[in-house]
Amino acid sequence: MSAHDHVMAHRLGDLRELTKSLNLHTPPAYFASAKTMLPYEEALVLLRDDDSGRPLSLYLGIPLCVEHCNFCMYFYGLADRAGSKAEACVAGIEALLRKIDSTAGRPVAGSYIGGGTPTVLTAAQIERLLTAVNDVFVFEPGAQRTFEMSPGTMSEDKARAIVAGGYHRVSFGVQSFVHAVVKAAGRTFTPADEARALIRYCRNAGATEINIDLMVGLAEETDESVQDSVAQALTSECTTISVYRYRPARGSEVRSRGGIDRYVATCAARVARLADLATRHGWEVEGRADGEHVRLIDPSTSVRRSERNYYETRFRPQLGNSLAGIGSGARSFQRDHRFVYCAHKSREGFDLAGRLVEVQDCDLPSRVAAALVNELFREWTVDLAAIEQDVDVTVRDLFGAELAFLLGEGVLVEEDSWLTVAPDHRTDWMYYEKLLYPSDWLARRSASRHLRAR
Ligand SMILES: C[S@@+](CC[C@H](N)C(=O)[O-])C[C@H]1O[C@@H](n2cnc3c(N)ncnc32)[C@H](O)[C@@H]1O
Ligand code: SF4
Repeated sequence: MSAHDHVMAHRLGDLRELTKSLNLHTPPAYFASAKTMLPYEEALVLLRDDDSGRPLSLYLGIPLCVEHCNFCMYFYGLADRAGSKAEACVAGIEALLRKIDSTAGRPVAGSYIGGGTPTVLTAAQIERLLTAVNDVFVFEPGAQRTFEMSPGTMSEDKARAIVAGGYHRVSFGVQSFVHAVVKAAGRTFTPADEARALIRYCRNAGATEINIDLMVGLAEETDESVQDSVAQALTSECTTISVYRYRPARGSEVRSRGGIDRYVATCAARVARLADLATRHGWEVEGRADGEHVRLIDPSTSVRRSERNYYETRFRPQLGNSLAGIGSGARSFQRDHRFVYCAHKSREGFDLAGRLVEVQDCDLPSRVAAALVNELFREWTVDLAAIEQDVDVTVRDLFGAELAFLLGEGVLVEEDSWLTVAPDHRTDWMYYEKLLYPSDWLARRSASRHLRAR
């Protein structure tokens, strides 16, 4: 072993210990080194009026739900029955947007209102929210605008308010049409005929794309329940179905189901069968062979994923857009701008107006690291040329030692400009990927854990 390999192996050993103790199963939400604190509205204007030519994506998060589904990685807090939290949330966003001069700004290329569950708002609140958004932001023609909803919080008047406000794509979080599965997830069951009626309301209101989210890998699920659920979705009037493999917040429940390999293989087999069913229905199938995220598309509709007008929560060098995020959950990898409403305060109230937010300008190594780790974590593969076409240095200039070590160990495989995580190493990639994390991020994470423990 060369001296250099020795150093890397030592660093990896330390990282193994650290990541084990931190129980990290996902990459950091962002890498950032330089940060500027700006008043929220100033930060929003900065992003809206940026003239770099990069498209702008707008995210709005409503951090409330009426129930806490036990699988969910997006849960923030429960709405109260009296509706005061929802009202405070809308009033806060209105007050914030009112401070922004509505006469300038580059057009928004894509927008997503998610959460949480934005349909916890009443129809009148949705109308106010979308009026405030439309007063301040201009949208590119054809910009994809999505409004997320859970069936249990939807109604006909909300569908009308959403579409009238310009959000023509709606996304229903159904997860499963099978009662036992939904119940085990701690969630209220919406029978299929009710879900169909809600979908019809959206269609009648003029929604052009209606997506249903389903999940595989949930507790109490069987081969049959997955097939049954997808069959119900295929015969509804939705235009796309997004199937997500359950991503556990911790590893324990997956370990108890025979380990990660077995879990992934079971889910992949279920997804392959459901994809087969969709194909027999004449639907198109798009996505990963291992079933982590598969999209079923009804070809009789005009749904197509447009590179530019598609809202992305992931850092994708080839898209190169900036993200303006309002509300909890707005954190994201986005080019060099990350704009986030103090996430650590998200449970304490929703008076966005007076808050400071962080606008972060990531430095170059952080952006490249974000792209590498994120793509390899989610796709197992990354095209270095796509990253390099965007920046003035080569990836090896920045991470030559780390990549040489990972290639030498056989963890990564190289072909042309593509790096791929070797199949044998996919289960332990969560340790190796830490080699590319900024060490100050790990140190901060470790320090905050020690603080919490005290
Ligand atoms: C913000 S969430 C929820 C949307 C909506 N509030 C609902 O009730 O479903 C968006 C989607 O992420 C998916 N999701 C949530 N937690 C997940 C997890 N742990 N692993 C994989 N997908 C998850 C679900 O399919 C969900 O519909
Ligand atoms: S799935 Fe939807 S309703 Fe359930 S906790 Fe997550 S965001 Fe809330």
